[in-house]
Amino acid sequence: MQKERACLAIILAAGDGVRMRSAKPKVLHGIAGRAMLEHTLAAAAEAGAEAYALIVAPGGQELVSVARKIVPPIEPFVQTRRLGTAHAALAARAAIERGYDDVLILFADTPLVRSETLRNLRGPLERGAAVVALGFEPADPTGYGRLIEQDGRLAAIREHKDASEAERGISLCNAGLMALDGRRALSLLDSISDVNAQGEFYLTDAVAAARARGWECSLSLAREDEVSGVNDRVQLAAAEAIMQGRLRESAMRGGVTMVDPASVFLSWDTRFGRDVVIEPHVVFGPGVSVADGAVIHAFSHLAGAQVGAGASVGPFARLRPGAHLAEKAKIGNFVEIKAAEIGAGAAISHLSYVGDATVGARANLGAGTITCNYDGFDKRRTEIGEGAFVGSNSSLVAPVRIGEGAYVGSGSVITRDVEPDALALARGRQVEKPGWAKAFRADRRSKK
Ligand code: UD1
Ligand code: MG
Repeated sequence: MQKERACLAIILAAGDGVRMRSAKPKVLHGIAGRAMLEHTLAAAAEAGAEAYALIVAPGGQELVSVARKIVPPIEPFVQTRRLGTAHAALAARAAIERGYDDVLILFADTPLVRSETLRNLRGPLERGAAVVALGFEPADPTGYGRLIEQDGRLAAIREHKDASEAERGISLCNAGLMALDGRRALSLLDSISDVNAQGEFYLTDAVAAARARGWECSLSLAREDEVSGVNDRVQLAAAEAIMQGRLRESAMRGGVTMVDPASVFLSWDTRFGRDVVIEPHVVFGPGVSVADGAVIHAFSHLAGAQVGAGASVGPFARLRPGAHLAEKAKIGNFVEIKAAEIGAGAAISHLSYVGDATVGARANLGAGTITCNYDGFDKRRTEIGEGAFVGSNSSLVAPVRIGEGAYVGSGSVITRDVEPDALALARGRQVEKPGWAKAFRADRRSKK
């Protein structure tokens, strides 16, 4: 039903973020593998927004480029002077004027908010409310705006710095995010003044402004762990921990076994089939999918990789972007795979580097097999046929092809293609001199 209501999301991101002490804009710092700004935009999109206005400070082009990756039609607006949250929202005047049913105002530095919460925030607009505030009860309310109720209805929001002692005793606080009725939003925002303790145009004053006109204001509730903002790196780490907790829980509820969930780090987009087992101390960078029944052993690091059903990875394995393991492939300890297709049932069990390669089904690469894929200028491919057997400590100098079912003798440096079912040996021939060592020792001793 809400889908039919046109919704404009205004994302405030003109803050300076000095407490991050960073050369990078605050909202581009990452949580679970993507920027805070991206999380906020994705939640807005899932909550049914159809248009987006991004409020940035002068020079905020980088934010706009990142935002476009998530919601391409986003419209940037520059807030030249930082005069408060209502002033920031008004920077999007041209977008609001186009006329939407709902206007959702979000903070880019509040990345943990869930789309359900945003949907709930929009809900009362449909029933006639002019303003919907998001309330929560923080452990420590210091610094937050307080929600003032009269006769059981939301009457005003008082900023901490403007609040009386009695008002500061209120535990119900303003999370900051707000939903406004699209037809009344501009007149409300335009009526807000900057006569207050901070000399700022407070978005929060939209509540009292609406009530003064007899318009309904409503309250929606959120948990503290959804609305905590990120201002410094300590809060960034706290937000990361909350996000990791959610991702782990959803993986486990989806049928993943985690022996020690607290030591497994996931990305926002990590995907799992059923009956995947993840041992302790595993890190998933962005872009990983793990199919049914696969096992990721301890101390492995995966990014941009696909792990097929029943495959086994690690312990101590590294799968880099473009590593695609077919079903029941086995990648063992101290093995690194990059941009390589590893066929069904193929085994690379120990101490190998396989990059820019195709490894056929059931091939076996012995300990220490290295694909020499880079000459300092170009990357070249290695192709290993089905059922091939590469002996330990072999170097495969790309471009090179090992035919199906071929053998490569241990310690070989293979520079030319090997035919299917052949044996290739490319190493020094063994020479043996009987009794040489004994004679040598006798000679040296006689000279001492
Ligand atoms: C705001 C709320 C407060 C609430 C708190 C929750 C107001 C007036 N107060 O206060 O009731 O309890 O959030 O965290 O809204 N921004 C701009 N341009 C500006 C000012 C702010 O883009 O001119 C952006 C900031 O980058 C930030 C967001 O708006 O993302 C909120 O601003 P901030 O200064 O953090 O507001 P608070 O004082 O925390
Ligand atoms: Mg704040």
